[in-house]
Amino acid sequence: MILKKYDKIKKACSGKTDSRCHTALFAHVKTGAAKSGRAKVKIIVVSVILVLAILFFVKKQGVFGVSRKYPPELFSIFYTCDTSGHIEPCGCVGGMAGGISRRQTYLAQALPQDFLLVDAGDVTAGHRPWEILELEYILKGYEKMGYHAVNIGHREVLMSCDALKKIKAQYSQFVSANLLGSDGQLVFEPFIIIKLSNGYRCGIIGIMDDNLQADEIGEGLSVTPPSDAIAKYLPQLKKKADYIILLAFANQDTIKDLARQFFEIDVIIGGDVQQASAMPLKENHSIVVLNTDKGKNVGRLNVRFTSEDEWKYDSQIFVVVESMDRDTQIAQLIEEYKLQLKDREFHPLKDDEEGLSAISAVRSKNADKYVGPASCEECHKSAYKIWQESKHAAAFKALEDKNDHYNPKCLQCHTVGYMASDGYLSQELTPQLKNVSCEACHGRGDHHVKLESDEEVKIEQVGMKKTDCITCHDEENSPEFNEEKYWEKITHGLDEVKEDTQEQ
Ligand code: HEC
Ligand code: HEC
Ligand code: HEC
Ligand code: HEC
Repeated sequence: MILKKYDKIKKACSGKTDSRCHTALFAHVKTGAAKSGRAKVKIIVVSVILVLAILFFVKKQGVFGVSRKYPPELFSIFYTCDTSGHIEPCGCVGGMAGGISRRQTYLAQALPQDFLLVDAGDVTAGHRPWEILELEYILKGYEKMGYHAVNIGHREVLMSCDALKKIKAQYSQFVSANLLGSDGQLVFEPFIIIKLSNGYRCGIIGIMDDNLQADEIGEGLSVTPPSDAIAKYLPQLKKKADYIILLAFANQDTIKDLARQFFEIDVIIGGDVQQASAMPLKENHSIVVLNTDKGKNVGRLNVRFTSEDEWKYDSQIFVVVESMDRDTQIAQLIEEYKLQLKDREFHPLKDDEEGLSAISAVRSKNADKYVGPASCEECHKSAYKIWQESKHAAAFKALEDKNDHYNPKCLQCHTVGYMASDGYLSQELTPQLKNVSCEACHGRGDHHVKLESDEEVKIEQVGMKKTDCITCHDEENSPEFNEEKYWEKITHGLDEVKEDTQEQ
């Protein structure tokens, strides 16, 4: 009996430095040593009261891991962030990491029995119709992967309240405790509770930073301060969960502040940051891990609960490299998405370029227009030949090969004048403007052609406007770009004009 009690106290107190525990154990030892019967009874009574008091205290405080059911010895939290619409890598250069089909290949072999799979936000690229279509397919993928909770980030709130509600009807794992709709109510659940195999309850709550400009928030939405939202929902969450995880689409300063304010949060997963964290950081009572970089990697936080009643954490970042196989089911989904793109044939809002006003392609007889490379060949034979043999002349085929030639995200850099009122529309309507041809770099050529061929040009001819290489050869799509080296590969010029004209 006494021994049993001793075990019980010891168990409750193991690993604790709390003086009450030591008193209880000490009291027990004394009890065992007591010789006198009366003294023995007295001490037993005292120690039983003490034990009850300690258990009550421990239970009430819930800080010693006793009131909590014990978690499984090991469980892992897999976390992603900032997929930003990268359903798969564009493949502009070799060796690109990322994409959700390879992410699933990794997860399928990595998931232990007990795990949580979460996303800290910014799943979508944005709010345009084709970006929302892509988001819908990414979420179908997330459903197959078994995500437990997906936080709303800043890119999601570019959408309108109505658009988000439609997405919510298709996908149920979103959380956000500080995003309000037009009715002033939360758009999504503030938190989700997930039970591990032994019944241990993990509560996952989501917030985002509220440092947004008015034009960064979609129609009918508003964002409340994250700390107010956590303060509001934490009491409920504490009742329903043994372990609390905060998904924070927030910068590191906000994350630190939240950790300092709310000691009850066990783990914080962010965020709106520059870099993934290689190691778990400790901030007040919380463990903080960060992930970002266009969904190119998956973070894994291993949570170990030792018999000494201690929590141990370690983390890894796994990069989803190109050489990995693609999961066939998810790859299938992506093909479906591409067919949808083709069926719907989105035409982006015209005149995004150069601040042109919304006038139609045949804006006026006098306006300069895109005419296509065939109009240049006659006088710039050599430049044309060089271009034709360059990769720029095959830029559309590169999209066709990937079945991405209806994807607005790609057409922008693989055609001429996409988004401008007279730019590329579709293969059928504007076949002369597919590929990266002369006017992608030199600007609209109609006036120039007319002037040079002595056709009447009614307004004063303005010199061809030049486009910088880096509008397309940016860091993401052409990391190796070097102006000199690249120019060498496509060198052409005016000298040839003279030769050409002399030849004629
Ligand atoms: C910001 C501009 C930009 C966007 C957007 C873009 N690309 Fe590219 N793409 C490039 C550039 C620049 C290159 C050449 C890179 C180099 O060789 O340095 C390229 C090259 C490629 C290539 C390699 C072709 C070859 O011959 O090896 C493929 C394939 C490709 N892109 C596909 C896509 C797809 C698919 C998308 C849309 C998901 C896309 N690109 C979006 C700029 C872009
Ligand atoms: C009828 C003949 C003719 C046609 C067609 C023609 N060019 Fe030219 N282009 C010329 C001549 C001649 C010059 C040299 C003018 C000068 O001395 O400035 C020239 C100059 C240029 C220049 C250098 C000067 C500048 O304005 O920047 C560029 C670039 C150019 N052409 C691009 C094009 C493109 C692109 C097309 C097709 C859209 C095209 N040309 C069609 C005859 C032509
Ligand atoms: C990838 C971008 C790009 C493409 C595509 C391109 N050019 Fe050029 N072109 C340049 C650059 C850059 C120069 C170099 C020098 C400058 O104008 O500063 C140049 C120079 C020229 C010049 C001489 C201009 C001068 O003032 O010396 C002519 C003419 C010309 N290009 C015609 C063409 C024609 C015709 C085509 C299509 C068949 C074409 N270019 C395609 C980028 C391009
Ligand atoms: C409108 C977008 C756009 C612009 C502007 C542009 N490029 Fe490109 N460039 C591409 C795309 C897309 C490809 C890939 C085409 C492919 O491989 O199918 C490419 C490929 C190339 C390649 C072939 C790379 C290789 O792997 O061999 C060179 C070289 C190149 N560009 C040079 C230039 C230079 C120099 C400029 C500026 C004078 C320039 N480009 C401007 C879109 C652009």
